Amino acid sequence: MRVVNGGSIPLFLAPMAGVTNSIFRRICREKGADILTTEFVSADGIMHRNARTRGYVEFLEEERPMGVQLFGGDPGRLAEAAKQVIDWVNPDFIDINFGCPVNKVVCRHGGSSLLRDCPQLQRVADAVVKACAPLPVTAKIRIGWDDRSVNATETARILEGTGIQRLAVHGRTRAQGYSGSADWEVITSVVQAVSIPVIGNGDITDGATALLRRETGVSGLMIGRAAMASPWIFTEVAMALAGRPFDPPTLQDRWNLVRRHCAEEITARGDERIAMQGMRSRLMAYTRGMPAARPLRSHLSTIASLGELEDLIAVHLAEHLAEAQGCQSGSTDALNLCASPCILS
Ligand SMILES: Cc1cc2nc3c(=O)[nH]c(=O)nc-3n(C[C@H](O)[C@H](O)[C@H](O)COP(=O)(O)O)c2cc1C
Repeated sequence: MRVVNGGSIPLFLAPMAGVTNSIFRRICREKGADILTTEFVSADGIMHRNARTRGYVEFLEEERPMGVQLFGGDPGRLAEAAKQVIDWVNPDFIDINFGCPVNKVVCRHGGSSLLRDCPQLQRVADAVVKACAPLPVTAKIRIGWDDRSVNATETARILEGTGIQRLAVHGRTRAQGYSGSADWEVITSVVQAVSIPVIGNGDITDGATALLRRETGVSGLMIGRAAMASPWIFTEVAMALAGRPFDPPTLQDRWNLVRRHCAEEITARGDERIAMQGMRSRLMAYTRGMPAARPLRSHLSTIASLGELEDLIAVHLAEHLAEAQGCQSGSTDALNLCASPCILS
C-alpha cells in the first residue's frame, strides 16, 4: 500500500544511474516517494536513438509524476533530445543534470562541468526550457565545482532566469565526490536567493535528519543512497514530517522486499543469472544495517540464482530473526552513506 505523507513537503527519489530503474522506482513509490526521475540519460544517446537509451527513459503510468533526466553540454542537442523524449514518453517534466562529476561526462562539458561555465549553463537551460514549453523543466546541481568556487546561489539565479521551474541542490561540490558531508548552509542560501522551489539533497538518512533539513525552508527533500539500503526511508521520513511514529520493517519484511526485487528483475531481464549478477551490488546495499552483514555480503557477492538467495535468506532469518526484532534492524539510523564503488553522479 502506498504511503501518503499527509500534505507535508514532497519526497523525491534521487536519480541514480544503475539503480533507479522502473522496478526500484515503483518500490520507492510504494514506500512513500512522491516524485520519481529516471537516472541521467545522455542527450547524444537519445539522438542516436539506440534501444538501450530508449529503455532508460521508459516508465509506467503509475510512476507519474515522473521526470526524465538528461545530460549533455550542447544546448541544441539537449533541446532536440528533450523534444524527442517528450515525443516518446510524455514525461511530467524534463530534468537537466548539472551535477554529474564523472570524468567521461565532464570531459564532454556535461554534468558538473557546466557549474564552472555559467554562460554555457545558461544557454543549455534556456534552449531546453524553450524546446519543452509548456512542459516544466527542472534542474539538479551541486553547490559548485570545488570549495574555492561554491556558486550555487549564482547558478540558481541564472537557472531561475531561464525559466527552470524547480531546482534540486546536492550540497556537495564536484571535487568532493561523496566525501565529507553535504553543506546544508549553502542549500539554505539557495532557498533564500530564488523564488522557485528548491529541493534539498544530501545525507538524509532518517526521520530526525529530515525534520532538521525541513527547517531550512526547502520545498522538498530528495533521498538517494539511504533508499538503496532501505526504501522504507521514505516511510520513515513521511511519518516524521507528519509527526507520526514510524514502525520499522522487520528483518523478514526486508528480506521479502529483497526477494521480490530480485524476482521482478529476473522477469524483466528474462535471464536469471544475468539478473542476479546485476543485483549483487544492490544486495550489498540492502544488507546495510542487517545483523552479520559482513559474512552475508561475501555470500551475496557470488550469488547467481533466486534459489541460492532464498536458501541464504532462510539461514539468515533462522540465525538472526529474534536478535533483529530486538534491535529493530530495519531502522536506517546506523547507515553509513560513504560512496559505493558504483557511484557515478
Ligand atoms: C549510484 C549512484 C548513481 C547516481 N546517479 C545519478 C544520476 O544519474 N543523476 C543525478 O543527478 N545524480 C546521481 N547521483 C547522485 C544522487 O542523485 C544524489 O545527489 C546523491 O547520492 C546525494 O544524495 P544522498 O546523500 O541522499 O545519496 C547518483 C548517486 C549514486 C550513489
